[in-house]
Amino acid sequence: MLILNKTAGVFFKPSKRKVYEFLRSFNFHPGTQFLHKIVLGIETSCDDTAAAVVDETGNVLGEAIHSQTEVHLKTGGIVPAVAQQLHRDNIQRIVQEALSASRISPSDLSAIATTIKPGLALSLGVGLSFSLQLVGQLKKPFIPIHHMEAHALTIRLTNKVEFPFLVLLISGGHCLLALVQGVSDFLLLGKSLDIAPGDMLDKVARRLSLIKHPECSTMSGGKAIEHLAKQGNRFHFDIKPPLHRAKNCDFSFTGLQQVTNKRIMKKEKEEGIEEGQVLSSAADIAATVQHTMACHIVRRTHRAILFCKQRDLLPQNNAVLVASGGVASNFYVRRALEILTNATQCTLLCPPPRLCTDNGIMIAWNGIERLRAGLGILHDIEGIRYEPKCPLGVDISKEVGEAAIKVPQLKMEI
Ligand code: KG4
Ligand code: ZN
Repeated sequence: MLILNKTAGVFFKPSKRKVYEFLRSFNFHPGTQFLHKIVLGIETSCDDTAAAVVDETGNVLGEAIHSQTEVHLKTGGIVPAVAQQLHRDNIQRIVQEALSASRISPSDLSAIATTIKPGLALSLGVGLSFSLQLVGQLKKPFIPIHHMEAHALTIRLTNKVEFPFLVLLISGGHCLLALVQGVSDFLLLGKSLDIAPGDMLDKVARRLSLIKHPECSTMSGGKAIEHLAKQGNRFHFDIKPPLHRAKNCDFSFTGLQQVTNKRIMKKEKEEGIEEGQVLSSAADIAATVQHTMACHIVRRTHRAILFCKQRDLLPQNNAVLVASGGVASNFYVRRALEILTNATQCTLLCPPPRLCTDNGIMIAWNGIERLRAGLGILHDIEGIRYEPKCPLGVDISKEVGEAAIKVPQLKMEI
């Protein structure tokens, strides 16, 4: 069955087990060596099959990931049934690799944590049913994880960050600003009214046929845009940032995508090429889209900082802004956010890029956070379901809009 039989030979070799127990007895937690917590995290909410084993001090004991990016690049976007099959094909191997790398016995796990919301239904289903089988086999507690909560808390694994802090989550499926007051205590300040910035970048990259560009053929859309933008001129043409008049913290990226599409069509005519060929001005278009997106993200985040300070939800000095999610691995966006945090006496913290995109470590760490806080640890898994749609925290975005805070103009010289 599953992992256990295949790996039992490795895990139960007495010598390794003894060595591990010996090492473990030296771990921090004064006088509580038997309380040392270790969580297996499993992530399948979108197009990455990922697993990791993390302990309560934040040590990553083992990790494995299978990315579907290349397959979906070829089909021009994620086909849910294809993603589901790829998760099915890989989940056992990935979980097994993470466990083997950790060199712990599955019986040493304190719990299994798995993303159950939000995400693609077919993808979430694979991770959940695999996890529930494993939970039954190992007789371990189960910790259901909200994917965005996991992105938000990752920073507490890499940096010493206390609550409250502001988080900006920008990825392929999500875009939101929230105040994080505790492990499972979020105030939602704003979100995208249409698509997420990563989705917009993926669509622009596809329309630019960047898969045919020799330097970008295996990159995700966002990464390809970042790469090409370095060679481009962002002043080549001008796009107005979206929602400029709306004094709230919501986002919009559909307009930006449509305006860019029109610009691409015009350029194709000018250069006399067909859709499907790479424009000579692709780098300029990438640079302009990236810059406009970054300015929009900064402006909405600026208002969120001012709102939180005005309401004493964040300290006046040295408040922390955390940016995470796939798009936060973009260094242009990070530099733009740095201009903002410098201007507002805040500190910008971002997990390293590989922890910004989907991974198993963030799920395992969220499991550790929940174990420590005693929140949402299930000993009975009866009736547990995945939820493709699930908001994060208490939505106060209306209140933010009603405050109608004016945001001063920042010089975005990036
Ligand atoms: O967080 P993530 O791995 O998955 C979701 O939860 O959506 O984010 C994936 C998204 C994709 O849209 C991808 O194009 C974008 O993040 N992305 C980037 C970069 N790397 C990945 N966007 C901009 N710049 C990057 N370097
Ligand atoms: Zn994500």
